[in-house]
Amino acid sequence: MTIHSLNPNAPVRTDAYAEIWQRSITNPEQFWLDSAELIDWDRKPTRAIHRHSDTEWEWFPDGMLNTSYNAVDRHVLAGHGDRTAIIYDSAMTGTQSRISYAELQEHVARFAGVLRASGVEKGDRVLIYLPMIPEAIISMLACARIGAIHSVVFGGFAANELAVRIDDASPKVIVTTSGGLEPKRVVEYLPIVDRALKASNGSVQTVIVADRDLIPGSAADYQGGEVRYLDWKEAEQQAEPVAPVPVEATHPAYILYTSGTTGNPKGIVRDTGGHAVALTRSMGQIYGIKPGDVFWSASDVGWVVGHSYIVYAPLLAGATTVIYEGKPVGTPDAGAFFRVVEQYGVKVLFTAPTALRSIRREDPELEGADRYDISSLEALFLAGERLDTETYHWANDGLHCPVIDHWWQTETGWAITANPRGIELLETKPGSSTVPCPGVDLRILDADGTEITEPGVEGNIALKLPLPPGYLKTVWGAPERFHSSYLAEFPGHYSTGDSGYVDKDGYVFIMGRTDDVINVAGHRISAGAIEESLGQHEAVAEAAVVGVRDNLKGHRAYGVVTLKHGVEVAEDALQRSLIAHVRETIGPVAAFRDVAIVSRLPKTRSGKVLRKTIRQILDGEDVKVPATIEDRSTLDEIVALGPADPDVAHTGAIVTQIAS
Ligand code: COA
Ligand code: AMP
Repeated sequence: MTIHSLNPNAPVRTDAYAEIWQRSITNPEQFWLDSAELIDWDRKPTRAIHRHSDTEWEWFPDGMLNTSYNAVDRHVLAGHGDRTAIIYDSAMTGTQSRISYAELQEHVARFAGVLRASGVEKGDRVLIYLPMIPEAIISMLACARIGAIHSVVFGGFAANELAVRIDDASPKVIVTTSGGLEPKRVVEYLPIVDRALKASNGSVQTVIVADRDLIPGSAADYQGGEVRYLDWKEAEQQAEPVAPVPVEATHPAYILYTSGTTGNPKGIVRDTGGHAVALTRSMGQIYGIKPGDVFWSASDVGWVVGHSYIVYAPLLAGATTVIYEGKPVGTPDAGAFFRVVEQYGVKVLFTAPTALRSIRREDPELEGADRYDISSLEALFLAGERLDTETYHWANDGLHCPVIDHWWQTETGWAITANPRGIELLETKPGSSTVPCPGVDLRILDADGTEITEPGVEGNIALKLPLPPGYLKTVWGAPERFHSSYLAEFPGHYSTGDSGYVDKDGYVFIMGRTDDVINVAGHRISAGAIEESLGQHEAVAEAAVVGVRDNLKGHRAYGVVTLKHGVEVAEDALQRSLIAHVRETIGPVAAFRDVAIVSRLPKTRSGKVLRKTIRQILDGEDVKVPATIEDRSTLDEIVALGPADPDVAHTGAIVTQIAS
């Protein structure tokens, strides 16, 4: 049996994976209808997929279900109410607590009552802006309980980004907190929410505040305006518990915004039925997790990894999830992750390569891991950015468990390629995120959309439509953007925006983005958004932002700006002001620290900024000067800035060759 249509001559590598993958592609209807048995339905689907057209389809079109029932109630009804659902570990406050499935049911049902009492009905949006505390999980599940659509915003975004998301999703309610904790500071959420509300469209009627008693500031301080502020605890005490409301499988489960090439984030929409089925299946198939196992995704609920693998998937599978408020290093040291693994008997850990690099920088010999008994750890999964082979070998040698790279995106919600250890652990090839997951028909296409079938040849990675259950359905409020951003480039396919190749054994290698998205510490940041922010600064005429290599974070944003005529200001003061401006408008998560001032940006004769050339120079790479360059001397200014990474040898003579 061949394992991949891309490579029909590939040898039979393994029976189990190949058989399952093949079945998922040749008969998706039966494959996913069988998978639907993994969850409970209020009305069982009779069909897996209905295709309206080549580009439109629905998973489980006649099914009805409730995700919060599947993630919580059904485990209680099956007699597992005493099992731990959530372990909360705050390395920031020293708090450690457990919430059983029965307790979670009580909290979720009551908080659903709070939302109802605030006027939230099926289909209404609720914006959740919370740090890593159990209330984040409870409020997400409470939305699912009543068919409300949540939109979680990562705490590291500033008021302006929050306002953009409020305007786009028009939520009735915001759920937030008084304070979040970062190593060097307390994050005051309420003033940020207040500023965002003032700058947005007025859809929000109620703000519910989970008061943490960490800092002054509570719901009471904001009473009296048009927006009603409620204290979480008081509201929960008064609320009537609400039973799960069955919704159509096609009903939107949530919106999660992600960066695109422009400054406007895209609201990725996922449906309810496909999401619940696919995530439940992934826990067994990809991660090898069974009910009662402890699974820890060291991410943040504000990212897709947190949505899927802190909140939904582990609970749908009846496992125990860990919500960790802390960092891999500095809270208090580089042994923090291993302390958590030992303390709770974590079986599978999922994090981003940048977290490993930060541990390695502090503790190259992995002494932190030796201090703890981490024998419960059966696998370490990594995603969010490319796993460099050095970090892979370091972790693989030091941790004595398989280190598994898997590739996915906010849009897909679960892995596109992975080593499916729950089916069988395939041989690892460093640099590869292994093989397409069941349900994924992956192709490599050249710029014209012609399939590249030769192994090892890089091209655009595309997925043949229809996309598997759980992947995005549309872009919130902009179905045309779904088509133009993802489906138009290669008709009949979803364009991933990543380039890569498949080797002769069917292993997939992801090489990088084909667009202007920068991956900073596993977070997607739009170069366009930073350019817009810099462009708003009073001193700036033009800005170009590129993603340069960074030893710790994989990449970081680097801005090059020109100034308006007549601006005279000390360079370092202006740089500080520009960095502060980006932090103020986008948020600390952009981690924007590098900006250089030049007299002119390198451009083509038609006026297109040569971003790739700028990046190559700053990364110390060989550069082919485009033949269409307007003025070659503009590159000398970039060369004069020196390499972005001080460890890179910069010859200054790299700009030598003219591309034909
Ligand atoms: N709320 C408010 N601010 C936040 C925040 C949050 N939830 N998360 C991060 N920030 C802030 C940080 O405090 C920092 O601010 P500062 O400039 O005042 O120091 C800034 O955003 C950048 O944060 P970060 O990228 O996390 O850098 P760091 O230097 O604080 O930490 C790492 C570096 C490697 C430890 C950290 O990036 C990390 O843990 N990465 C793991 C990545 C991950 O989980 N990715 C999820 C995808 S799988
Ligand atoms: P996000 O939507 O923020 O999760 O970012 C998705 C992007 O991160 C992908 O399109 C890739 O560019 C990158 N990415 C995620 N996982 C991997 C991986 N395992 N290897 C290489 N790149 C990855």
